[in-house]
Amino acid sequence: MVSNSGLEVDKAMIHVIRDLPTPINLRTLRGFLGHAGFYRRTALDAFNDFKEALKQALVLQPPDYNLPFEIMCDASDFAIGALLSQIRDKKPVAIYDASTTLGDAQINYSITEKELLAPVNNYSSSSSRLTSCPACTSGQGCDGSVLLADTPTFTGEQNAFSNRNSIRGMDVIETIKSAVEAACNAIVSCADILALATRDGVVLSGGPSWTVPLGRRDARTASQSAANSNLPLASSSLSTLITSFQNQGLNLRDLVALSGAHTFGLARCVTFRNRIYNDTNIQPAFAATRRATCPQSGGAGDLAPLDVTTPNAFDNAYYINLMSRRGLLHSDQELFNNGSADSIVRGYANNRAAFFRDFVASMVKMGNIAPLTGSNGEIRRVCSRVN
Ligand code: HEM
Repeated sequence: MVSNSGLEVDKAMIHVIRDLPTPINLRTLRGFLGHAGFYRRTALDAFNDFKEALKQALVLQPPDYNLPFEIMCDASDFAIGALLSQIRDKKPVAIYDASTTLGDAQINYSITEKELLAPVNNYSSSSSRLTSCPACTSGQGCDGSVLLADTPTFTGEQNAFSNRNSIRGMDVIETIKSAVEAACNAIVSCADILALATRDGVVLSGGPSWTVPLGRRDARTASQSAANSNLPLASSSLSTLITSFQNQGLNLRDLVALSGAHTFGLARCVTFRNRIYNDTNIQPAFAATRRATCPQSGGAGDLAPLDVTTPNAFDNAYYINLMSRRGLLHSDQELFNNGSADSIVRGYANNRAAFFRDFVASMVKMGNIAPLTGSNGEIRRVCSRVN
């Protein structure tokens, strides 16, 4: 309607739609369809705009740990979803999104339980990186040293090359730690919390469960140089990966099984840019999809799922993707590139139970790398600094 204040909606027309009764019989259904038919042009435009907006890729940003986080969640009878976000410059910024369809048992949950499951699911997949990847292949073993931050007088491992800007969710571990300290002071180490949270993140995402051997103590030292030289890179070749795992007492089967953790979680554009623009052992359609949100220059922190098919579920899709040349990192695709790991990848792609069984065994093995026990180390009060 054109009025003195310019173009505006005719309020007299809105109430027709607003007061439209829910169709409960043939007459009210006919009334509804009549109105829908009459307003369909505007409604269709709005619907198409909505579809266009939904088609835009959600550009995820790395978290800013100095700002508060928000989780928005929603649940229907069949699916749940949640978005982890932050407000920056008064605008919402997406950090991580997770959605999943409900399992047979979950469908029977009450609506409150379903609503609560949504943030739990989001937490479990967004915290996965922190809780599993570097913890035990870090500089000095499973002693929580990866959690240590730099201070003016101390060099931690959070800033080692592979961890810098990469380990997400430190705040989750600190939150768990302070809750544990409040209930039971100076007993549970950060290293044990990390190992338990890893297992729970895997279980909550649909993966296997296992008993975590406990009793690790936390390091009073960190070695950024060891972390720099021990942690494999996304650009590593198969032989480098094998050697760096061997140096920790882990064999080829451990390497392939543990890499299956890339069945969920995210990677920054800077870690896979070279692969999607220069590697030849990559499926062209997959490379094109990834290039859409990871430009040839800039956008270093833009995130993409490590598992393109089921990004938030802990399953064996990672191996199936490798077989169709859809590994995100160069190091991922090295595991299926006509080399000695091919047959193990094929085995896990065909047999999820075998992957789960080997993953659990290798996680326990990795979790036992050089733990501090007895009177060595300490029980840290705050995970990011020594007592
Ligand atoms: C084989 C050698 C490995 C290499 C070269 C490697 C490299 C990487 C890289 C580059 C990223 C993305 C980092 C970022 O952009 O910030 C990543 C993410 C991740 N890694 Fe690994 N990784 C390896 C092994 C492992 C292992 C053994 C695990 C656990 C058992 C693991 C679990 C994860 C998880 C869960 C993420 C997702 C992180 C998130 O969502 O924030 N990785 N890895």
